[in-house]
Amino acid sequence: MVVIKVCVGSSCHMKGSYQVVKTFDGLIKQHELEDVVQLKASFCLGNCLNGIATMVNEKNVNNVGFSNAEQVFYDEIYPLALAEKNAAGGEA
Ligand code: FES
Repeated sequence: MVVIKVCVGSSCHMKGSYQVVKTFDGLIKQHELEDVVQLKASFCLGNCLNGIATMVNEKNVNNVGFSNAEQVFYDEIYPLALAEKNAAGGEA
C-alpha cells in the first residue's frame, strides 16, 4: 500500500492543500489505484515553510501546489502504485 499524507494544517491549508487532495484523489480514481493507494489528510507535518507538505510513504515531498500536484503524482506516487499493483498481480 502506498500511503500519501497531505498536510491540512493551517499554513498548508491556506496555501490550498484541499485542492492538492482533490487532484491526487482524481488521479488515483482515474488510474484505478484505490486498492493500492491510501490518501490521508494529516495535521502539520513540520514543514510549514516548504508547504504544501506531503509525505509519500515515509518520504517528505514538499512544495506541492496547484501547478505541480499532477507532476508530483506522476513522479512520486504513480511508479510506487504501479509496482504495488504489479506485485499484487493486478493489471497496471
Ligand atoms: S501546516 Fe503543513 S507542514 Fe505545517
